[in-house]
Amino acid sequence: MRLLVTGGAGFIGSNFVRQALRRSRQVEILVLDLLTYAGNLENLAPVADLPTFRFSRVDIRDAAAVRDAFRSFRPEAVVHFAAESHVDRSIHSPAEFVSTNVTGTGVLLEAAREWPVGRFLHVSTDEVYGSIPAPHAADEERPLSPSNPYSASKAGADLLVSAYAKTHSLPVLITRASNNYGPYQFPEKLIPLMITNALADKPLPVYGDGLQERDWLHVHDHCRAIEAVLAAGRAGETYNIGGECSMQNIEVVRRVLDCCRKPASLIEYVPDRPGHDRRYALDSKKVKSDTGWEPSTSFDSGLWETVRWFRDNPEWSARVHSGEYRTFHDLNYSQRGEFPSV
Ligand code: NAD
Ligand code: DAU
Repeated sequence: MRLLVTGGAGFIGSNFVRQALRRSRQVEILVLDLLTYAGNLENLAPVADLPTFRFSRVDIRDAAAVRDAFRSFRPEAVVHFAAESHVDRSIHSPAEFVSTNVTGTGVLLEAAREWPVGRFLHVSTDEVYGSIPAPHAADEERPLSPSNPYSASKAGADLLVSAYAKTHSLPVLITRASNNYGPYQFPEKLIPLMITNALADKPLPVYGDGLQERDWLHVHDHCRAIEAVLAAGRAGETYNIGGECSMQNIEVVRRVLDCCRKPASLIEYVPDRPGHDRRYALDSKKVKSDTGWEPSTSFDSGLWETVRWFRDNPEWSARVHSGEYRTFHDLNYSQRGEFPSV
């Protein structure tokens, strides 16, 4: 199976690529990634020497480069992770979110129309449903009601993907996952930021009253779910992927402090995020019944393992913060950008 993976140098994408290549020698992967601040080639170092792995630095908004990649690699399936992914950044600089998340997705869909693929899996988010009042959980039929520029751009991309299924019979799948955590997550998101700050004895900024609820999904469970949907999902369908671990932010922060053996005095309440969604909650019955997938990592063990990973890889966080990774090994990998012939 030839898989084209966009955004494969980011947090979830790189976990997916490492996991898929480890699991099967029948899978060949070409990663297309622009290597923004969030894309890091070090994340792919464990698979860089495999003959089944290729990387090319490509902006998904660049139609000619994307078409070239499709024409040369002839993917049988696409898994589309590439996006601007951080809500706070989208509030300050929305333009990149609209262009990468909406226009970039449109460019990929056009390429997939020209060079047909068996599956086009678009990786989306529970944020497209907006805040869900307790005790409800959003199923896939819930109307989209995004609250911030990030989630609005993801909702726009979801609608574009669905439109290509209707207009062009493109065999698309959409997955909408809840909050991921795990190794290699950029330390701007809640859990890795709290871990790296706690380990460095820096304050842990909690937005507003800290009583917002998120549903936590370990990245390995998310990647297994994507593999399951790719294999067994019904074309044209959307699948929610929840972690079944709902928790208030302040509780997450307390658990991080426990794992790091640091005092609660590091917690600092700061002004709230504008338009902050109070609660996300997903109904994931459909993915379970169609594919048999279940989340398998408990939050406690997943968090311990994540804290251990950040503790064991301080140089990764340091390089990520300094931006050094943008040139690290860059030349090597660019030279490997030729696509395998078919
Ligand atoms: P991330 O920010 O860690 O990685 C994004 C990757 O996309 C980076 O490697 C970056 O270089 C690349 N990229 C950005 N703009 C690009 C462009 N124009 N062309 C090519 N590559 C580009 O993101 P993540 O947390 O791994 O999220 C991956 C996907 O999963 C996103 O689509 C996100 O919306 C979705 N998602 C994330 C979560 C979460 O909790 N992190 C939950 C549900 C869904
Ligand atoms: O729900 C899925 C989404 O989860 C993904 O689609 C996004 O790509 C991903 O970034 C994430 O969005 P959130 O906004 O939920 O994640 P973030 O880690 O930024 O924040 C989680 C919660 O923690 C949120 O309620 C805001 C709060 N928070 C976050 C940060 C960074 C704080 O209280 N303090 C912080 O410093």
